Amino acid sequence: IPVDVFDLVIFGGTGDLARRKILPGLFRRFLAGQMPPDSRIIGAARADLDADAWRDMVREGIDSFGGPELRGHDSLPAFLRQLDYVSVDATVEEGWPKLAALMRPDVVRAFYFSVAPGLFGALAERLHQHAIADQGSRIVVEKPFGRDLDSARALNRTLAEHFREDQIYRIDHYLGKETVQNLMAVRFGNILFEPLWNNHYVDHIQITVAETVGVEGRGGYYDKSGAMRDMVQNHLMQLLCLIAMEPPAQFEAGAVRDEKLKVIRALKPVPAHHIVRGQYDANHEAPSYRDEAGNPRSFTESFIAIRAEIANWRWSGVPFYLRTGKKLRARHSEIAVVFKDLPHSIFEGDERRHRNILSIRLQPNEGIDLTVTIKEPGPGGMRLIDRPLDMTFAKALGEEAAEAPDAYERLIMDVIRGNQTLFMRGDEVEAAWAWTDPIIEGWEKRNDVPKLYDSGSSGPDDALMLLHREGRRWRDIRA
Ligand code: BG6
Repeated sequence: IPVDVFDLVIFGGTGDLARRKILPGLFRRFLAGQMPPDSRIIGAARADLDADAWRDMVREGIDSFGGPELRGHDSLPAFLRQLDYVSVDATVEEGWPKLAALMRPDVVRAFYFSVAPGLFGALAERLHQHAIADQGSRIVVEKPFGRDLDSARALNRTLAEHFREDQIYRIDHYLGKETVQNLMAVRFGNILFEPLWNNHYVDHIQITVAETVGVEGRGGYYDKSGAMRDMVQNHLMQLLCLIAMEPPAQFEAGAVRDEKLKVIRALKPVPAHHIVRGQYDANHEAPSYRDEAGNPRSFTESFIAIRAEIANWRWSGVPFYLRTGKKLRARHSEIAVVFKDLPHSIFEGDERRHRNILSIRLQPNEGIDLTVTIKEPGPGGMRLIDRPLDMTFAKALGEEAAEAPDAYERLIMDVIRGNQTLFMRGDEVEAAWAWTDPIIEGWEKRNDVPKLYDSGSSGPDDALMLLHREGRRWRDIRA
């Protein structure tokens, strides 16, 4: 779908996110013909650079992070010609009139705040003071959107002083992932699943986002956040919403976000014994979390498992087990809907429990599989085995799957198109914090010490127990 001519200003244009994700992503959209020739990307940051110096920086970023298909691409010079740069600092007056003079009437204006949230207010203020933003302008903000309910409310209030809610695009990059959107396609594009999608047929649901990376250079930020704030409050809760929400009447921003909000508001408070926090330990090859974070006494969790429940008619009594962590066995993100046992088996001697499991693999090896029970081949009578009906998107869709835009580029194009469906609304973010706050306060009050786990494992043993004691087991974390 083509987009209108735009001016996209990236505050923090010399930063990591801009160089690693935003600009390589925009270059891919340029190559896909989605950047109209008159459109411009304007880098804005404190560094005193001219446009050519910034273009060099962007070229380097694309070469280093854009993947082999972008490196040294023939069309790069044409893309770079659409880039400009202005040196501005939210805290001083200089530079802003120059940015104001660059703005054009009648094109879409978008402002990406790729800066610390502490600067959002000052930036919004400058954009207004200098009439750089107009009534149709959009602003894009990144997580962390606050660190608790109070700070998130304060951020929402600050932005609301200058922008309407329909101008604010809060990014959760998980919503831009192809397979995450596929969750909605599978649920609401097939008649097969929705009749079973409730507590009559579903035993429990597992959401796993496992990473192999540690905190690396981000220890300063991460040690103050932990897995709960870094991953659960946003990415995992968004996955939970998409899995659990009622069918929206239309696939449209207001309707989808209303339904997600209802899920978050129906989440029950979580008792302490339904939470397992972990922290990775050193092994002979790799440093511990505490070494990497540079805090020898850190009690921050690099792993968390939670048993959540949704108090509504559809889901009452169905546990949602969420888990995410760093330095785990494999990079493996999956949602598994585990259906109930048969009410009765007609096959004599078949004592094994057969369960249909719908698994949606988010990354890597994106795809869907459905475990189905069939007859074991051979003359041995009616013996049953479980096998997956497996659809790996790369195989089923071939090139089309490979060409799908990555999360950031898709979301940025949605901003230009003015489509907020895949962005978080202010009330949604606040509701998510309202659920997470008491959980975090609980362990802070108890001075909870996270359980150590080995790098390269599946997390602490206590996390396994969370399911074992209810006669269930986690799905394997495997490459
Ligand atoms: C980010 C977190 O939001 O998501 C990181 O801050 C995490 O800690 C990352 O590694 C995971 O994203 P992805 O797309 O690699 O699954």
